[in-house]
Amino acid sequence: MNESIIRYYPDPILRKETEKVEVFDEKLADLVARMRDLMFQYDGVGLAAPQIGESRKIAVVYYEEKLHVLINPVVKESHGRQIGEEGCLSFPGIYEDIERPSKVLVQAQNEKGESFTAEASDFLARAFSHEIDHLNGKLMIDHLSPMKREMVKRKLKKNKKDDRSR
Ligand code: CO
Repeated sequence: MNESIIRYYPDPILRKETEKVEVFDEKLADLVARMRDLMFQYDGVGLAAPQIGESRKIAVVYYEEKLHVLINPVVKESHGRQIGEEGCLSFPGIYEDIERPSKVLVQAQNEKGESFTAEASDFLARAFSHEIDHLNGKLMIDHLSPMKREMVKRKLKKNKKDDRSR
């Protein structure tokens, strides 16, 4: 068996609305730890639970040597806009300029169920927005023009074919 743990587009789980986390137990802490390890292993900046087949509102982001665990996160406020290059573990080899807010205020819970609000700007605001999108079944390509989106889909198909012929 050589199947990847990471779910790639167009896996339907990436489009599903995720379930709210209600129980904050050891199993949840284990899942968060697993997500963190996979994020490091795959060299991602962030990882959302649906990307490993868990349709639940959990995301991790690692930036400037700080691990952010976002459980049941909600964007409370967003301000400004920024355009910058973005990638996603579910879209291997794809990097596109995506517009995001330059600042977000996020309310979330940690593994213990404690609520907190986090203010993020610039790159971290981008990462939070990207991961929270995942938890709502939204993907980075949804922020592209229809033409760009088609180009990305074509490129993914081509990459897949190239992989198979290797
Ligand atoms: Co992603």
